[in-house]
Formats: sequence, C-alpha cells, structure tokens
Amino acid sequence: MAKIVGGITTSHVPAIGRAIAGNLQQDPYWKPFFDGFPPVHDWLAKVKPDIAVVVYNDHGLNFFLDKMPTFAVGAAPEYQNADEGWGIPTLPPYAGNQALSWHVINELVEKEFDLTTCQEMLVDHAFSLPLKLLWPNEERCPVQTVPVCINTVQYPLPSAKRCFKLGKALGEAIASWDADLRVVVIGTGGLSHQLDGKRAGFVNKDFDLAFMESLIHDPEWATKYSTEELVELTGTQGVELLMWLATRAALPGKVRKVHTNYHIPISNTAAGLMVMECAD
Ligand code: DHB
Ligand code: FE
Repeated sequence: MAKIVGGITTSHVPAIGRAIAGNLQQDPYWKPFFDGFPPVHDWLAKVKPDIAVVVYNDHGLNFFLDKMPTFAVGAAPEYQNADEGWGIPTLPPYAGNQALSWHVINELVEKEFDLTTCQEMLVDHAFSLPLKLLWPNEERCPVQTVPVCINTVQYPLPSAKRCFKLGKALGEAIASWDADLRVVVIGTGGLSHQLDGKRAGFVNKDFDLAFMESLIHDPEWATKYSTEELVELTGTQGVELLMWLATRAALPGKVRKVHTNYHIPISNTAAGLMVMECAD
C-alpha cells in the first residue's frame, strides 16, 4: 500500500517567482522567507517521497469565473504551467501519476464528493512556486504530482468543515492505493491576507499562529468557523488556509511538528510554512 510520509503547508505568492528568477534569496526582504526552506529540503531528503499530492487553489488560469468547480482533481499525464499575468517566468511541466489520480477520484466519488475530473489542467503559481521552493535545484520537479484544486476565489466556497472531510477522504484514498510508493501531501495558500478593498494588507498574526498550532494538537479546531468568520479573521484571501486544513486532514492519526516558519509580509501576505510528519 502507498505510504503517506507527511505534509508540507506553505503560502504561495507570485512575487516569490520573481525573487527566485532574480536570485534574491539573500536579499534582506526575502531572506527570512527563503531561510525557512533548507530544513524542509533536509526532511524531504530523509523521507524521499515519490509523489506529491498538491492541494491548492487555482486563481483564474485553468478555471475562470464562468466555470468554477468546488473541488477538482487532475488526471493528466502532465501538467503545464502557463503565463497567468503576474509577469513571472513559467516553469517546466510537471509529471502526473494517472493511476493515483484515478484511484483518488474513484474513492472520493464513492464517498459522495462530486468532483470535476481534469484530463487536461494548467497549473498556476499556487502549484508551481511551492514545488520550486521545495525542489529548488532541479530543472524539473523530481516527483510525480496529483493536483487537487479547491475553490477559494468565487463564492460560494466550500466550508472549513467540508474541506476537512475532503482531506480526510483524500488521505484514506491515498493510503488504500495498492502501490509501494511514498506520498507527501502539500497544501498551498494563506496564511492571512487580503489583496483589495478597505482591509487590503490585513494580516492576523495571532490567528495564524493559533491555526498553525491547532493543526498539530487539535486539527479540527478551524472547522468551527464559517467561511464568513474566516474572512473576518484572516482576510478575503486568507481563506486559502483551507488548503492547510485539508492537507492536515489527509494525514492519518497524530502528527509530529518537524519545522515551522512564519514571516510578515511577503507581498501582501503573512507567509507560513510547516512540515508535519506522520507519527506512525
Ligand atoms: C498575493 C497572494 C496570493 O495568495 C496570491 O494568490 C496572489 C498574490 C500577494 O500577497 O501578493
Ligand atoms: Fe493565492
């Protein structure tokens, strides 16, 4: 059976792509952010995943406002990155694992999640940049991937409770896959941020840190909040923390906190990073 080795959760911000392209990792603005990653590289070298299941939200590259699935799973042989208008360089395509994709799709539909299945799928900065941060030195991402996309850009959004249930079912699906392969679950988005409106620039450090801690000791804590409450607490784009919640829910049993980093701001965002290892 496949083994879930753990989870990595991180913010995604298009400006990170420009910082990577410009080799700005040691620049004083970027250093506290990029310095969070070497311990993650060490952990990846130790746990050696074969496949990354990436829980992220598309921002209008593959799905636009006219057609917006609540939950979508990729089932393509390969996923292309493309220009999404932020002026960041595009990255080489990502290999899929169609066997795991279809296993996950079958299991989730069996458990009454009505998914959109994507045999072609473009992936945006929320998918490409975290993978580049995790494997910075390889020209192409060295693990196969399965994209799992959750709508956080157009209302109505799935609730925190629903995203937790999706994550749990996703983890069960991965763990029931009959393949001797190691899987890391990666969740990208958040933490608190708001890009426009009266509260543009809003961050909530107290909430972010409480949320990060809850994933270790009380993973369902955030499910008590409605979407509106999460927007109030974390900003209109802060709801992307639902990706962290689904990722934690996919990890079976208790987890051990391997590493965290938290830095304000990266662009308009409170940037968080966390590595959770499955206890068993
Ligand atoms: C920013 C943050 C995001 O999550 C995103 O998708 C785009 C931009 C930002 O802070 O600039
Ligand atoms: Fe985003």
